[in-house]
Order: sequence, then structure tokens, then C-alpha cells
Amino acid sequence: MKQYDRYLITSALPYANGPLHIGHLAGAYLSADIYARFRRMMGEDVVFVCGSDEHGAAITLRAAKDGITPQEVVDRYHNLFKETFDRIGISFDIYHRTSAELHHETSQEFFTNLYEKGEFEEIESEQYYDEEQNQFLADRYIIGTCPKCGHEEAYGDQCEKCGSTLSPTDLINPRSTISGSTPVMRKTTHWYLPLNKYEAWLKEWVVNGEKDDKKLHYPEEWKNHVLGQCNSWLDGGLNPRSMTRDLSWGVDVPHNIPGHEGKKLYVWMDAPIGYISATKQWAADNKKDWEPYWKDENTALLHFIGKDNIVFHCLIFPSILNAHGDYILPVNVPANQFMNLEGKKLSTSKNWAVWVHEYLDELPGQEDELRYCMIKNMPETKDSEFTWKSFQEANNSELVNNLANFVNRVVVLVNKYYDGVVPSFDENQDLIGASDPMDAAYHDSEILRLFDDMDIVCSHIRNFEFRNALQKLMEISSNGNTILQANEPWKAQKTDPESVKVVMNLAMQYVATLSVAIKPFLPFTSDKMRKLINLPLADDNSGYLDLTNDLSEGIHPIADGHKIGSPDHLFSRIDDSVIEAQVAKLQANAKSNEAAKEETAEETYAPIKEEIAFDDFMKMDIRTATITEATKVKKADKLLQLTLDLGFETRTVVSGIAEHYAPEDIIGQQVCLLANLAPRKIRGVESKGMVLMAEDASGKLVFVNPSEASFANGGGVR
Ligand code: 2FM
Ligand code: ZN
Repeated sequence: MKQYDRYLITSALPYANGPLHIGHLAGAYLSADIYARFRRMMGEDVVFVCGSDEHGAAITLRAAKDGITPQEVVDRYHNLFKETFDRIGISFDIYHRTSAELHHETSQEFFTNLYEKGEFEEIESEQYYDEEQNQFLADRYIIGTCPKCGHEEAYGDQCEKCGSTLSPTDLINPRSTISGSTPVMRKTTHWYLPLNKYEAWLKEWVVNGEKDDKKLHYPEEWKNHVLGQCNSWLDGGLNPRSMTRDLSWGVDVPHNIPGHEGKKLYVWMDAPIGYISATKQWAADNKKDWEPYWKDENTALLHFIGKDNIVFHCLIFPSILNAHGDYILPVNVPANQFMNLEGKKLSTSKNWAVWVHEYLDELPGQEDELRYCMIKNMPETKDSEFTWKSFQEANNSELVNNLANFVNRVVVLVNKYYDGVVPSFDENQDLIGASDPMDAAYHDSEILRLFDDMDIVCSHIRNFEFRNALQKLMEISSNGNTILQANEPWKAQKTDPESVKVVMNLAMQYVATLSVAIKPFLPFTSDKMRKLINLPLADDNSGYLDLTNDLSEGIHPIADGHKIGSPDHLFSRIDDSVIEAQVAKLQANAKSNEAAKEETAEETYAPIKEEIAFDDFMKMDIRTATITEATKVKKADKLLQLTLDLGFETRTVVSGIAEHYAPEDIIGQQVCLLANLAPRKIRGVESKGMVLMAEDASGKLVFVNPSEASFANGGGVR
């Protein structure tokens, strides 16, 4: 049954101010690519768009730092992005850019439309101004001390240390990022989107998935952490948000609007409209009509993003689309959380990253090895971790020992026994070496099992459970291996060659199925496998549909009598030396980074507290729990009210972490809870238990991660 007539799939437009790292891939690109490839292969009408985000302070600050123009910055990174995405196999239908004229026109049309409808409020306010540079200082143009955690280099829009969302006037001791001077206050007028007025319908649409009593979400449930963030913003109350800036780089406020001089659109107003301008450009290039993709209710619009973009895609952009009135809203925003690297947060400024283009240069031809490890560890519901060791382990024990080994064994044996021709078998032949009679009926039942397995793979993909889908595919491969192992064709060939034909024919069906089924995940490997078995490449526009239809009717994915190719290795083992070199490079990069050096030099540690008895420790009942809701406690700067899901009950706990974490950033966070601490009323709220935190060298409170914590002797974490 067809759910939608077409799919418009978007991946967050990356800022063109630095190369792509693996965190980008794991966040918004691989998931969207798998989904887009899958939908296309199911025969659906798909347009998958992306492009470079070339405006905003991220770009102009980079230009100032490098001593080049903003245009030079965006050209450099736009070209690098386009090439890198292509090399790693992200199958965009178009990779556009927001400096394109078409984009400027499209976002100006939007702005004019909302302006003429009276959707904006024109508000005069006092903002920081750099008198040396003659410039207003919004967002990242101003730094100062974070009022929440004391970090001295917090930006005007966010503190990168504690994650709090800030406005420039929150900063203590503010200074201009460009000149370092202390700014003065100056009056300026901007156009604001009154998000407060949209709160009611946003709640109905985001939280209930309904508009005018019509169900609007697909699948009906959005990810918990996405809803959690939205709820947290909505519960805190929305404020009007300025949609313009006093800047020299960006999309001009349309010139027919009085007061437009020197004003540009806020980057978060123009960037998401970039999805629309990219679609327009794709349509123009392919002689298609772009409008149904954005205006027909039978289109499924899906935004794939990282968790830091949730508020913009779930609240602000939908408000803009809704205010315009002609556009559809997303049916889902399957955001991912973050991927950490070797125990630390990925950081461009600290050069703590695996840069995708460097990986591709240094490990040539190993695109799918990286894709596999990223998908296996995709941060779908919580933050995840990439380590070079786990990359090696996934490659050697899963890709090599399972998938490559299975395919190789089958191709070698079919070449050896049948000169590479897929054998036909006697309908009534029993297999030896098995407890049950295994004959044509067994072969049929195995084909049905393949169909059922594929059904599970498809259902996982539809639900954005890409890790599970990949795991299921690897299970198909290991089932294939088990069939070989159980029937030992290499022994039986001498005594019962007829039954071996059933086994080898079946093994070929497994290989042929996998060669199509893995394409959305490991497209390069799919192509190699098709070559190995001498079949045309899996069809990008119908491969899954044809395969699942065939399997459901018992039609074999590879025909008897077909001549396959000669054996070749799909994957090779990765040696320790390769991994050691990559880890050493990472450490060296970070060391040579001045900021990192300074931080290390500054590290000091608090002394260990007085010793306690073992029995004291054993009195504590520590449980794992997940934060499902988080809100600020009124009139208490340090406190957050948390709702914790312990699996068997839900509890409220008040925790003194507000200076270190923004409520919306910790939804879905797993915690260790001291569950038998006597309840206490804190600011009128009964707090039942205490969330365990540890203080790092800089004084920041960090969660005790249940997946890493271990306590001796069963009384601890359960
Ligand atoms: O966070 C970022 O990298 C932004 N450039 C994402 C923009 S997504 C979209 F709205 F354009
Ligand atoms: Zn802070």
C-alpha cells in the first residue's frame, strides 16, 4: 500500500566553514542517504536535497580568521563538501548552495510574503555595537563570560561549554569577537517572528501530530528525544525571534521593504528555505515541477538533522511554513544525537575529529568500512562513540569474518564444483548432514525466510531504525554461513553431490539477496557483489521492490544456469598498524592545537575527600534511569526539574545542574540515580533521589554514564 505519492528528503545544510567530519556523517547524512536509497529502490518518487549553508557569522568569522573573503571561504568548502559527499556515496539528487541567486530570490519571496501578511512584528531594541568596527554584534560576533557556567569564551547565542542558549545581553564582561573591544549599546530595529502566537498550534502539531483533527505524523510517533526537546521549549514559553540581522554578508532584506538598508536575513530564516531553493534548482535541471514536492499533502517531507538543529526544524521553520500557508509541514524530523570520538566530544576548533576527506585519502577504497561502522554506531536515540579500535573490530570480525567470508566461500565453491554456473537441483533430493530432510521444500521455506527477513529490514528502515536494519542484514549473512557450516558441502561433494546442489543453489540465493539488500547501507559493496556474481548492478529505482516481490512469490533472485564471476575479496583485515597510526594522528593534531595545549596546562584537580567505609557505600541503591522531561525550576538558576523513567516507575528529581546543561539537551540522557535517598522538598517540588554527577577538571558537572559505570558486587547499578 502506497502511503505517499512522493518523498522530499532533506539533510541539514552544513556550514561551509570547515571540512566534514564523521560526526556530520553520523548525524544528518548517512541516515538520510539510507532512507532515500531505500525509498527509491522501493520504486517511490524521491527527491533528496542538500547544499552548503553559506551565510551567518560562522562564515564571516572564518573569513576574518583566514584573512580571505567570505566568498572565498564558501567556495573552498562548498567544493570540498560536494566532492566528499560524492566520494562517500551520499546520493543527493542535488547539492545546492545558499549563495546561489535562486536561493536569495526564494528566501526574499518568503520574507516578503510574511511581511505583507503582517506576520512580523517590527521591534526596536538596544543591541551591542562595536564602535571600532562600526558593526552590531549579534550571535557569534560577541563573546563573554557565560552566566551559567563561568566559561569565559561563551558566544552571544550559545555557550559551547555548558550548551546553554544565550542572548548577547546575558553575557558577563562582553567583548567584540572581531576587535576585542568592549561594545556599547545602540538602538536598532528588526523584524521578529512572534513564535509566542504560534505556541498553541505548534503544540497541537508537534506534540499530538494533528492539525484540524487530521493525523500528520509518519510514523505516528516521533523520536522521544525530539519530542522531549520540543516539549521543553514549548513548556518554557516561546518568545518573538528576530528574523533579521545588521550584517554585511547574507541575503538582503528585500529592497522594497522600508528600513531594509544594511539588514540581512537571519541565517536560520534563510537556511531551511535552502531546501526549497535546492528543490527548485533540481526541478529546473531535470525539467520537472518543484511545487508538488512542497505543496501537495501527499508528499512526505522529512528533515534529517543533528540534535542541535531540532528547535529550528520542529518549531521555527514549521512556523514560517505555516505562516506562509502554501507549504506542507514535515511528517517527521528523525534527528540523531551526537557521536563522540575516542571518549571526547568532536570539536573542529580543537581539531579533535576524523575528517572524512582525509579518511578517504588515507584509507582509499574503504568507503563502506567507514559507512558500516558509522551506521552500526549511529546515535539514533542517544549519543554514541567512535573509536578506531571499534572500527577495526567491526571490520575484522563482522565485514571480513561474516559477510566477506560467506560470499567468498559461496563464489569459490560454485566456481570449483560447477565451473561458476548456479546449479539446478533435484526436486526430491534430501540433504545429508542435517537432522531434518532438506530438499526442495526446505529450499522453498528458506526463500520464505529470506522474504520475512527482508520484511523486517524494510520495517526497520521505515521506522528510522538503521542500526537494527543493518544488524538484520548481517544476520542474513550469518544464517547463510550457518547453512554452509551445517551441511558441509566441501565434505558432501564427494559422497552426495546432488544434495550439495541444493545447498549451493540456496547459498547463491542468499548472496544475490544480500547484494541488493545492502545497497542503501553499503552501496560500493553491493556493486562489487553484483560484479562477483555477474549480475547487473542492483537497480537504484526498483531493486528492493523487485527483490521483495520475487521472494514473496518464491521467485529466485538468481536463476539456475546463470554463470557467476570469479572470486575476489570484498573486505580485508585492517592491521593494528593502521589503527595505531590514526590514533597517533588524532593525538598529534589535538596536541599541536594551541587551544587544547592551553587547556591541558590549566588543568587542576580537587583533592580526594575523606575515606568512607565499604558498608556506607553498600547502603546506596543505585539504578539506571532515562531523563524523559526536563524543565527549569522557576527562580532557581541552578536547578532543573527532571522526570526520570526507571523502567518500572517514573520519578521527579530536582537536580542542581542547570548551570551546566540546557533542559532540551538532556532529554534521552541515561543517568545513574541514587534511588533510596530520602525524599526532599526543594523549591516546593518533592525530589525523590539524586542523579549522580561527577565534576571534571574544569569544574563542569558530567553525567555518570550507566553504560560505562560499574560497581562491585551486585548492590550497584542494575
Ligand atoms: O548546524 C548547522 O550546521 C546548520 N548549518 C544547519 C542548517 S540546516 C538547514 F536549515 F539549512
Ligand atoms: Zn556556559
